[in-house]
Amino acid sequence: MGLEFNTETFRNDFTFKNSPRAIKRFPFPFDRDDYMYSVNMEPHVPGRPGSVFEHMFDVDEHYVAEMRDRALVLADDPLRCQSLPHMTLAGWDLLELIMESKARDYPHWFELHKNGNHWHWINRPLEIEQKFTFLDETTLPCGPMEYITRQAQGDFTLQDQRDDNLWIEAGMVTTQADWSLDFDIGMSFHEWHAPVPKAHQMGVFDRALKFLLKLQHGAPVRRFNWTMTVDPLLDTSPENYPKWGPTKATLTPDNIGHRQHLRVELQTLHRLPRSNAIAFPIRCYLIKFEELVTIPKWARRLHRVVRDIDPELATYKGFLRNRDLMVQYLSQFDDGAPTSPGW
Ligand code: HEM
Repeated sequence: MGLEFNTETFRNDFTFKNSPRAIKRFPFPFDRDDYMYSVNMEPHVPGRPGSVFEHMFDVDEHYVAEMRDRALVLADDPLRCQSLPHMTLAGWDLLELIMESKARDYPHWFELHKNGNHWHWINRPLEIEQKFTFLDETTLPCGPMEYITRQAQGDFTLQDQRDDNLWIEAGMVTTQADWSLDFDIGMSFHEWHAPVPKAHQMGVFDRALKFLLKLQHGAPVRRFNWTMTVDPLLDTSPENYPKWGPTKATLTPDNIGHRQHLRVELQTLHRLPRSNAIAFPIRCYLIKFEELVTIPKWARRLHRVVRDIDPELATYKGFLRNRDLMVQYLSQFDDGAPTSPGW
């Protein structure tokens, strides 16, 4: 596979961009012209070759740059990675899942050799080679969850299951859409979802929790979430709000195509075998409006979704103030043609 990794930044000069190939495989999240919350989960089974669903964990051209950005966030704020003491076993489960998946799906980049509990991991893109003893923390430079999620795109949380509920009790969260692990750690499913409008009253979280409590090992599921981000900033955390919040006021009709990004999260849920915890990888994909409108059916549909979205959702997602500007820009690409359901 001839994929090269981009040299790019997600801060300061913001040199991030998508290649034509990355635009084509972007996970456009809307299967219709309007949007409302729902229990939108489906089996996380392998998808079309080349798509972001081809493998369990998608590794793309942004891999190396994203891992560098994560290291910078952690150097500045170590609390973005936390694991309560009883979650270490779940961390090992996650390490195993990611290492096995990557070595199987991308053997030219990753190798995992096992001799009993003596494991040998090779990560070529990041130039890492590590021999360690599985389940023995003293043989890794840091805890197992931190070790592997410094080498995997997207955020990760680990939920313990007890008392018919899920508890967010470990995570690596550096690319989040305005929520804080440090604030949420120790909360239950409904507690950490408390700020979301409408979905509680619609019964979305009751049904989602019921479903997740029965999630089986080996049968992961996935769903999409999305929001809007000005500039290709991965770290839109509440902790750093003073750095990125005010940029929303700097969008103009001239710069919106280049600076406004659709931010899509491909979220998967995996039951872990030893700990019985649930792993929740949240993989973030960014695309500039000017990249997105090169696919006419996406431009048409995004125009309609943004134009007609419930203001409470636009407020929660943080783009109400720029909604009119977005609609004005996107309307140039909407000829009014009907769109068909599906992607
Ligand atoms: C938002 C975590 C599973 C639906 C959120 C937020 C967090 C979160 C931290 C942000 C809340 C805030 O504003 O502070 C998680 C975790 C999950 C999980 C750790 C795994 C166990 C689900 C599932 C569903 C769901 C299975 C749905 C069916 C939503 C929705 C939002 C949300 C609709 C609002 C997103 C938006 O409008 O941008 N989730 N979630 N979540 N979650 Fe989850």
